[in-house]
Amino acid sequence: MVLSEEVKVLSGDAGVQKTVEMLLEGQCVALPTETVYGLAADASNDTAVDSIFSAKQRPTDHPLIVHIASAEQISSWARAIPASAYLLAEAFWPGPLTFLLDKAPQITTNVTGGRQTIALRAPQHPMFQRVLIESSLGLAAPSANRYKQLSPTTADQVVSGMQGRIAAVLDGGPCRFGLESTIVDLTSTELTILRPGPISRQELEEVTGKPVLAPNEHDVAVPGNVAAHYQPAAMLKVLTVNELESSDDGATGFLVWSDSAVQRLIDAHIPEERVIRLADNAQEYGSGLYSALHRLDALSVSRIQVERPPAKDSWAAVNNRLLRAAG
Ligand code: TXA
Ligand code: MG
Repeated sequence: MVLSEEVKVLSGDAGVQKTVEMLLEGQCVALPTETVYGLAADASNDTAVDSIFSAKQRPTDHPLIVHIASAEQISSWARAIPASAYLLAEAFWPGPLTFLLDKAPQITTNVTGGRQTIALRAPQHPMFQRVLIESSLGLAAPSANRYKQLSPTTADQVVSGMQGRIAAVLDGGPCRFGLESTIVDLTSTELTILRPGPISRQELEEVTGKPVLAPNEHDVAVPGNVAAHYQPAAMLKVLTVNELESSDDGATGFLVWSDSAVQRLIDAHIPEERVIRLADNAQEYGSGLYSALHRLDALSVSRIQVERPPAKDSWAAVNNRLLRAAG
């Protein structure tokens, strides 16, 4: 579907009402969540779900997350629900945590990419919550970017990335976490993190009282878990401080977090406008990462050099996204 009009930016109460109407008509609308903007449509309407895949140019075997208002709706979408799902929902919902469960028999496989499992999450953003409650729908919503590109964390980024491909975005301000939800597989007795995110392995272990596996992402067969993902237009490399460019070639942007990296770039006479410094703690760094990459892309640099973040557990989500951004 190619639309000739501009992406309409909806806001406030009237924007929420319009969004609900459009979703009930089977249209796609981009919505704010606390992680990234999602491209939402009625998850029980196969035609609406198909239009998400075509707007994103995403292969139809890459399953979508279904967003629900609260744990009460889990049983409408999933079956054989383990107690851990309710424990985790109690602790982290609404919030940036997605469960993989066996799908309920009546759910068609358009939204699950042909699989017998379903991903469910209750998002925290108040506008998304209102849309869920006022529409009484479950909403399929992948990140509101074209396949393999950077996820949007502001309405402006949705507009520029999805121009001509979607009718509207509901503006809910910048996303608080800035990285996609943690996905945890609850379909077997061993709990496994399929995608690291804002909720850490340790937090999941504390609530469930069970060990949670966090295999290297390349060992797990999850559609969408491809090496090249979350990519800016410029070629991105993750480097140690000493590997960062030591002289200016005029075409490289930099993303750093440490004093020593900043000093190295000053010594190399790299102009400030091509250097972005993020915080040296994982939470703040994560919330600024995609916006920083969008900004560097907007400078039309051909390369982005990223200072390697610490290899600690708390940085797992950031390191996971950078690994794929580097392809
Ligand atoms: O924070 C988030 O999760 C955001 C916001 C919009 O909620 N959504 C998001 O969706 O990141 P998306 O489609 O970009 O990523 C969903 C991931 C994909 O890697 C997909 O393969 C995995 O979830 N997934 C969804 N359903 C699955 C299933 N049935 N089996 C395995 N993986 C699944
Ligand atoms: Mg995505």
